[in-house]
Amino acid sequence: MADSASPTASIVVLISGSGTNLQALIDQTVHGTIAARIAAVISNRPGAGGIDRARQAGITTELLDHTNFQDREAFDEKLAETILRYKPDIVVLAGFMRILTPAFVRQFQGKMVNIHPSLLPKYKGLHTHKRALEAGDTEHGATVHFVTEELDGGPNIIQARVDIEENDTPESLAGKVLLKEHQIFPQVIKWMAEQRLSMTDNRAYLDDIIIPENGLQFEA
Ligand code: GRF
Repeated sequence: MADSASPTASIVVLISGSGTNLQALIDQTVHGTIAARIAAVISNRPGAGGIDRARQAGITTELLDHTNFQDREAFDEKLAETILRYKPDIVVLAGFMRILTPAFVRQFQGKMVNIHPSLLPKYKGLHTHKRALEAGDTEHGATVHFVTEELDGGPNIIQARVDIEENDTPESLAGKVLLKEHQIFPQVIKWMAEQRLSMTDNRAYLDDIIIPENGLQFEA
């Protein structure tokens, strides 16, 4: 648990889907492994399974359906306003499937992180598992990075690798990568809650030591 001298960090998590990464964060905040509190979970999709996970954990949920907004700017403006109401120290994109406007991103620079299912800078964007298989890669993985204005392009913090086997399909690969995601994402949020991570001049630092461009390499 956080000691009483250090205030507990406040987190807002953005989701669009089943929320297994959110669940990993809920588990570790409830357990006290991460000295932080999830103040709210915001989804842009009404049916997102992550909303139920948040409710079950007693976390405030907000639904901002992007289809109700005229354009990306209007949605992002409302999204920023909603996030800021919770005064978060950390903003977590946990399977949030929306491209964000530069104006939005700038407001949370240095405190917003994303998890992406590839070894960035490889395979930015969608269908990463299929693309890794089609390219004949022998390894694949996941990356947690700071969010900047460049899509999936902010400085890497940590990566976890998995071997690609001959009989892997996009689905089997996604499953293997997801297990790694559930390990590296809470690790990063723990560091952030402890104020050990920072971003300066588009580079990530842990304890004021520069992180290599590919990110720290997670060893299971
Ligand atoms: C994860 O693979 C994440 O990397 C990607 O979307 C997926 C979300 O899964 N951005 P979940 O909703 O956390 O289960």
